[in-house]
Amino acid sequence: MTTNLDLTDIQGNIIKAYGAYNFQKARYLFLRINNGDKGRQFVDAITAKVTTAIPWGKSENGDVAVEKPRVTTNIAFTYSGLEALELPTASLREFPDDFMMGMSKRKDILGDDGPSDPENWDKIWKEKVHIWISINAPDMDALIERYNWVAQQVEASDGGVTLLTGHRGGDDEENLPYQDASVLYDESGNPTPKEHFGYTDGIGDPVFEGQTNVAARVLGRGKLMRDGSWAPLATGEFLLGHVDEAMEYPKTAPSPMLLSRNGTYMVYRKLHENVAAFNRFLDEQSKSFSGSKEMLAAKFAGRWRDNGAPIVNAPDDASKDEWDKAFEAADFAGKKRMLTDFTYNNDLHGAKCPYSAHLRRINPRGSLEYGVKEAYETPGALVNRRRILRRGLPYGAVKDAARDDGNHGIIFMALNADIQRQFEFVQQQWINYANDFKEGNDKEILLGNHDTKHPSKAVLQVEPGSGKPPHFINNIPRLVETRGGDYFFIPSITALKLIAAGMVDPT
Ligand code: HEM
Repeated sequence: MTTNLDLTDIQGNIIKAYGAYNFQKARYLFLRINNGDKGRQFVDAITAKVTTAIPWGKSENGDVAVEKPRVTTNIAFTYSGLEALELPTASLREFPDDFMMGMSKRKDILGDDGPSDPENWDKIWKEKVHIWISINAPDMDALIERYNWVAQQVEASDGGVTLLTGHRGGDDEENLPYQDASVLYDESGNPTPKEHFGYTDGIGDPVFEGQTNVAARVLGRGKLMRDGSWAPLATGEFLLGHVDEAMEYPKTAPSPMLLSRNGTYMVYRKLHENVAAFNRFLDEQSKSFSGSKEMLAAKFAGRWRDNGAPIVNAPDDASKDEWDKAFEAADFAGKKRMLTDFTYNNDLHGAKCPYSAHLRRINPRGSLEYGVKEAYETPGALVNRRRILRRGLPYGAVKDAARDDGNHGIIFMALNADIQRQFEFVQQQWINYANDFKEGNDKEILLGNHDTKHPSKAVLQVEPGSGKPPHFINNIPRLVETRGGDYFFIPSITALKLIAAGMVDPT
C-alpha cells in the first residue's frame, strides 16, 4: 500500500534526522506554562516557525520542495503540558497511560534504578516540564539567533511561560536553561558520526510507507519479507491516524482525529556514558578474549567501531579486513547497502553477532523466529511492532578519559506511535531482560542496568560443534546511566493551530 503523506502537516523532526542533513548542533529547551491563554499565544508564535517535513531542495518525485532552512524548530508537549493548555477533558482522557504518567513514574519498567534513578537526574526534572522545543542548526550562530528569538517569545508571554533551568552542562554547571548537543569532531575539527564510546552511530533508521526515496533506503531498514526482500514498515508504526503493522489505526490516538493524525510520541532521554568504565572494562575483558580488542568492542555493539561494519558479515579480524577492502571498492549505494542490508539468518546461534549485542537486541531482524519456518506472515512479525525512529545527538565532551563523572553522553530521542508497545518494550524486555533471546535475564551489554550487587554476565556464543568454548563476559559495569527525560506528544501542524486557538473539539 502506498500512502501519500501530507508532509506540510507533519513536523520535520519526525521524518528527518537533522544530523544527517549536516545540522551538527542542537539545543533543547523545556518550558512550563503558567497561564492557559498566554501559553496558547506562545504556542501560536512558535508554530509560525515550526519546521515541517516538506522535502528540502529538488525532489525527484514531484513533491513540494523548499529551500533547506538555516535552522529548524520543533515543538512537543508532555501530558501535563496539554492539561495546562486546557485541552478538553474528553481528549485528555484518551491519551495512553504511559504518556499520562510520564517517564519518571515508569522507572521500574525502564530499569531506571541506582545511578539512573530519577533522584539522580539533572535538576530540571524536578520541575513540571510542559513544553519541549528543539533547535537544530549547522552552526552555533544560527542556533543562538533562533534561541534568542524563542527567548523573546518567552519574554513576550508576560509570565505565561517560563524557560526552565537546571540542565547540567560541562565544568560542573548545574543550572543551564538549555541542553546542548553536538556531533563529535575528529582531531582536525571534521564532524564525525561517532558517539563517546567510539562507535559509529546513526546508520540504520526504520523506513516506512509515505517517506520519500523509499526504494533506495529500505534495504535492511524496512521489514524483512519471506522472499528476503525488504518492504517499508506501515506508516501507523510511527504516525498516528495511519494504519499500522496490525492493519489497525493506533489506539494511542486521542480524538478528535485532527488532534492526533500526523502526530506521534517522543521519548526524550539524556543518557550519560561512563567512558572511563567502558575503556577499563574493554581493556580488562580483552585480556582473556581470543580476538583483538576492536573485535571484542564490535561484539558488544554488533558493529565495528571504526566504520560501522556489521559484525554478522565481518565476524572476526581477518574477515573484517576483507569487508573493509570490499567497502573501499564499493560506490555510495554499495556502501550504504553493506552497512544496512543484513540479517541474522546465517547466525542463528549468535556465534557472529552475540544475542547480547546492542544491535541484535534492539532490532533482531527476523531472527526471533528460531527456525519455526513461516510461523508468521513475515519473518520479522515479532520485530515490526517494536521499531523506533531514533533522533538526537551526543552531548558534552570527555575532558578526562580516566573519570566517569564528566558530562557526556547521548541525547536519545525515540519516536513511535505507541511508547509502551515500542520503546518501553524494547527497553524492558530486550535491553534489561533476555527471555526472547533464550538468554535468561542477561542484560544487553552496553545499555543494561548492570548492578555490582548482582553482577551481570553475557555470553559470546560460538558455532555449535566448533569445539570452541563460548566466551563469558562477567561483572559488566553500568556503562550508560539515565540523567533525565520525559514522554512528549509531537502534534501535527493542524493540531498545533487548533491547540493554539483553543479550538480542539472532540465532540
Ligand atoms: C548511550 C546510549 C546508546 C549508545 C552508545 C548507542 C549506540 C548505538 C550504535 C553505535 C548503533 C549502531 C549504529 C546504527 O545502526 O545506527 C546503534 C543502533 C541502534 N540503537 Fe543505540 N545506542 C544507545 C542507546 C539506545 C537506546 C536507549 C535505544 C532504544 C531503546 C537504542 C536503539 C537503537 C536502534 C533501534 C539501533 C538500530 C538497530 C538496527 O536497526 O539494526 N539505542 N546504537
